[in-house]
Amino acid sequence: MFVQKKFVQKDFKRYTITSALPYANGPLHIGHIAGAYLPSDIFVRYLRSKGKEVTYVCGSDEHGAAITLRAKKEGTTPQAIIDKYHQINKNTFEKFGIDFDIYHRTSSDIHHETSQEFFTNLYEKGEFVEKESEQFYDEEYCQFLADRYVTGTCPNCNYEAAYGDQCEKCGTSHNSTDLINPVSTLSGKAPILKSTKHWYLPLDKYQPWLEKWLIEGKKGQWKPNVYGQCSSWLKAGLQPRAMTRDLDWGVDVPLPDAEGKKLYVWLDAPIGYISATKAWAADKGKNWEDYWKTQKKKEDESCLIHFIGKDNIVFHCIIFPAILHAHGGYILPQNVPANEFLNLEGDKISTSRNWAVWLHEYIEDFPDKEDVLRYVLCANAPESKDNDFTWKDFQARNNNELVAIYGNFVNRAVVLTHKYFDGKLPKVSAHEAVDQEVLKELAEFPSRIADSLDKYRFREALAHVMDLARLGNKYLAETEPWKLIKTDEKRTATILNIALQIAANLSIVSLPFLPRTSDKLAQMINLGDFTWSDAGRADLLFVGQNIEKATLLFEKIEDEAIDKQIEKLENSKPVQQTVENVEPQKKEMIFDDFMKMDIRIGTILEAEAVPKSNKLLKFKVDTGIDTRTVLSGIAKHYSPEEMVGKQVTMLVNLAPRKIMGIESQGMILMAEDSEGQLSLLQADKNVQNGSQVS
Ligand code: 2FM
Ligand code: ZN
Repeated sequence: MFVQKKFVQKDFKRYTITSALPYANGPLHIGHIAGAYLPSDIFVRYLRSKGKEVTYVCGSDEHGAAITLRAKKEGTTPQAIIDKYHQINKNTFEKFGIDFDIYHRTSSDIHHETSQEFFTNLYEKGEFVEKESEQFYDEEYCQFLADRYVTGTCPNCNYEAAYGDQCEKCGTSHNSTDLINPVSTLSGKAPILKSTKHWYLPLDKYQPWLEKWLIEGKKGQWKPNVYGQCSSWLKAGLQPRAMTRDLDWGVDVPLPDAEGKKLYVWLDAPIGYISATKAWAADKGKNWEDYWKTQKKKEDESCLIHFIGKDNIVFHCIIFPAILHAHGGYILPQNVPANEFLNLEGDKISTSRNWAVWLHEYIEDFPDKEDVLRYVLCANAPESKDNDFTWKDFQARNNNELVAIYGNFVNRAVVLTHKYFDGKLPKVSAHEAVDQEVLKELAEFPSRIADSLDKYRFREALAHVMDLARLGNKYLAETEPWKLIKTDEKRTATILNIALQIAANLSIVSLPFLPRTSDKLAQMINLGDFTWSDAGRADLLFVGQNIEKATLLFEKIEDEAIDKQIEKLENSKPVQQTVENVEPQKKEMIFDDFMKMDIRIGTILEAEAVPKSNKLLKFKVDTGIDTRTVLSGIAKHYSPEEMVGKQVTMLVNLAPRKIMGIESQGMILMAEDSEGQLSLLQADKNVQNGSQVS
């Protein structure tokens, strides 16, 4: 757990909460939700429950190479890609209860205008450095290679698949020409350098200001993982970064001599928060400037908080604040509580390897269980280090925590009230010591949970919520109303009243985390319109009021459902694996070279060991053309017996050669891994001998 000794949460009257705009280039997975969306949604629901004025904005990031490369991959246009995924992701967020005020788009006119205004403002103030420089260019595709169009080795951490503008491993941002061994993602070839003009943001110039605002100003307030990254970049010294690109998709650079140039996606994307707020405010009759602009009186300013994943830290903590500062008149983020990454079953979540739990699939596979996933992702959130999601843990948390603790407590209180008091809230009589104790503890929960939430410790806050349910269970276990009813109805009434008051509190404090459950519980016990400030009280329900019949808040998840998910993952196991010590690719050849090889499928008729050799086996192979003798060095991997009858792939026109006195008339093809393990290359079904491989 991170330590924030000096942390003091100032009370603001208005909040501007943003969640990273996901690229509209694919569906959302659990890693997205755990990183930037669930914590923000919890925080916003909590603020609203406290009666704060909040705007919570997000939307699709629709520019940059992420979109154009996806369009290329799907053989369609960038417009078709963003239209498709914007809608899918918007629906997924809604279904998952992520309650944005607006889910906007960076392709909108208002966004293009807003980001151009920013660029023009900085340009007119002379903030940009205009520079002609050599940039990577793919000769085959006649295109400059911006950002994800080029990959190479990170100059900072040596990660081999860093993008042109950023390394996702260490998080640093760099200029693409800093990459070691750059390769074009279009042609797969090394790019050439070609001269082009761009406008650079001199981050080095803002370094002293950033040191004061961030290093001095945010110490002890920002999470150590965020603060630590920022201070190490500042220590290393900031460099100017180009804010424009040679691309044909994005926001036009608003200058006459910038034809064919677009704004860097990381210049326009965070401005997307502002344009989203403008669109929302116009719709709701609000003033967007209240949420973004500095005010005459400090206390009238909004509190800006960016929720993001760790790969976005540099852009939200260094580059965007520098832009806001250079523009002037804008508030700066109070906090950027970035999360680390969520892994899945011990492996990095990867879209390209389909190693993910996709939200739209989860919603279909586990209908009405959005809160279960919210619970698990929060209870296991990668707040201070990378964490792992496993389906077994998901099942255990559902069955042993949500069902056995939360659900069980509520169910017992409601069922017993129906059984003994006809579904009417019974009357409290004199409190005994055990009641006083439980009520005292109950009163302490809201501030304990709030304290964790104010420090962005969502896991801890949720653990406190579950402790409240545990308290309820413990109270029932200690007082045993099911036994007491036989001898003391008055006392039983008091106990069930208190238990249901605890359930009412549970509904209030779990609202930010489990909104649907909270609502279902509130309806079950007919809880009125209470807010966070009411939590802790033991008079939220009124004597004689109706309590509805118990319905299950959570259901046990059986092994079968979990096994199905694990199997689904297994089936999508990476087709492509990148191995560090794999042999480098051989020199390029032409198609005619390949056509010279006559590769066919044959069947092994006979197999035997070669005397005095522990490597070689001798085969008689039916090649479909003839029957011939072939030697192969696979004795350590296959026995003669298991080889007989197998179909193999064979190079049949390799010149015969003598090995240990035996003429080998071809070569059986194998795959050899980096450990030297050999596996036969086989057709995936039985084919006619002599079939050609091409
Ligand atoms: O990393 C991403 O998915 C980016 N699209 C996040 C952008 S956040 C903000 F700046 F818009
Ligand atoms: Zn790196």
